Amino acid sequence: MSDLFPTETVRWQSLEQSARDIFSQYGYGEIRTPLLERTDVFLRSIGQETDIVQKEMYTFNDRGGRSLTLRPEGTASVLRALANAGISQGESLRVYYMGPMFRGERPAAGRKRQFHQIGAENVGRVSPHADVECIAMLLHFLREIGVCDTALLVNSRGDRYDRDAISTALKAYFDGHIARMCEDCSRRYRTNLWRILDCKSDACSEIIAGAPSIVDQLGTGSQAYFRTVCDGLSRLGLDYVVDPRLVRGLDYYAHTVFEITSTGLGAQNAVAGGGRYEITMPGAKHAVPGVGFALGIERLLMAGASSQAFLPDVDAYLIGIGDEALTANLALAASLREAGASVLAETENRGLKAQLRAANKYDVRYALIRGDDEIDRGVVQVKNMKIAAQSEVSATDVDALLAILADDGRR
Ligand code: HAM
Repeated sequence: MSDLFPTETVRWQSLEQSARDIFSQYGYGEIRTPLLERTDVFLRSIGQETDIVQKEMYTFNDRGGRSLTLRPEGTASVLRALANAGISQGESLRVYYMGPMFRGERPAAGRKRQFHQIGAENVGRVSPHADVECIAMLLHFLREIGVCDTALLVNSRGDRYDRDAISTALKAYFDGHIARMCEDCSRRYRTNLWRILDCKSDACSEIIAGAPSIVDQLGTGSQAYFRTVCDGLSRLGLDYVVDPRLVRGLDYYAHTVFEITSTGLGAQNAVAGGGRYEITMPGAKHAVPGVGFALGIERLLMAGASSQAFLPDVDAYLIGIGDEALTANLALAASLREAGASVLAETENRGLKAQLRAANKYDVRYALIRGDDEIDRGVVQVKNMKIAAQSEVSATDVDALLAILADDGRR
């Protein structure tokens, strides 16, 4: 888990702003959900057999003995929120979110225990065209922030009627290989065959590469759905690669799944992932369909996301020699800020040299200096820090001071 300082957060804010701007062009509004949820919100939706549920969730009992979990992802929380709000069947809603997620994974480059996602969910309807638009919006965002060196991988997991055929084909294939696969895969072989396809260990990857393609096992309806998605992407001029064994690490997906990988990232090369899903919340009668994605902010920045990031620009530093001047400067700073200027006022009663050094540290264009003499005469010394020139201005003439601050200080 990392701390973020202002030189980093400016880059984050810029990415977040780009996401807000672009997602709102597609009719998405922001949703904010709690970081903590009841554990069962995640158990069934993400899937008992997934790595997230098996090994990674931060789960604990609160004082009332309720099992709570720090959200490991955003989709289940969003669906829980919409279910709570009573979204009616057939109603559709577009929401986006950004914020911290928690997974107790082994830390690595690009893998954090508290990481941050920007995600979007289009909930309520089933349509391959919605899947295409969702992927297009994700790629639009990546283009906008300059993450271009990427590949889009797509696949289909079919719907619930395809499950048996796919499982039978996977079982027939892995029967002959499971003895040479890792311990986790041996367990998955007994409990959830699909999860084997998501194993990242080197030894297993080779075997998995020979597994039957999922798309080949789909019924005609699901194949047609997937074709419409692929055609739609082509019509928009979006390049993609069908990865016939992509299943993604969460069990709620049905039909389309996709991932964006970036060449610059090494082993943790997924900057974003998503797909179509069906989630039944605890206590709900019906599954709610949706399509969405999430991007990892840390990985976006590693993948070279460019941002229009500027540290706050301070126009002036108010220097005060003596308590009287320090107090008066706080009032002057308030007036200048109210008029739109960015100023810093010294709060420590220390010498002129130390205060000028502080002003230089902030790279301000002007220092506004007052001591007892200036207070008595009702003036402020305005020192141009760039060309070492100084002038005197009436302390009550805020307009004159603002006019000087509006100047870039180089004259
Ligand atoms: P996910 O693939 O688990 O999907 O996570 C999405 C992205 O979050 C990943 O591509 C990666 O960039 C980032 N990420 C995941 N784990 C970590 C980590 N430990 N450290 C740093 N970054 C990480 C989901 O979470 C789904 N909820 C996406 C979705 C939304 N599907 C449908 N709607």
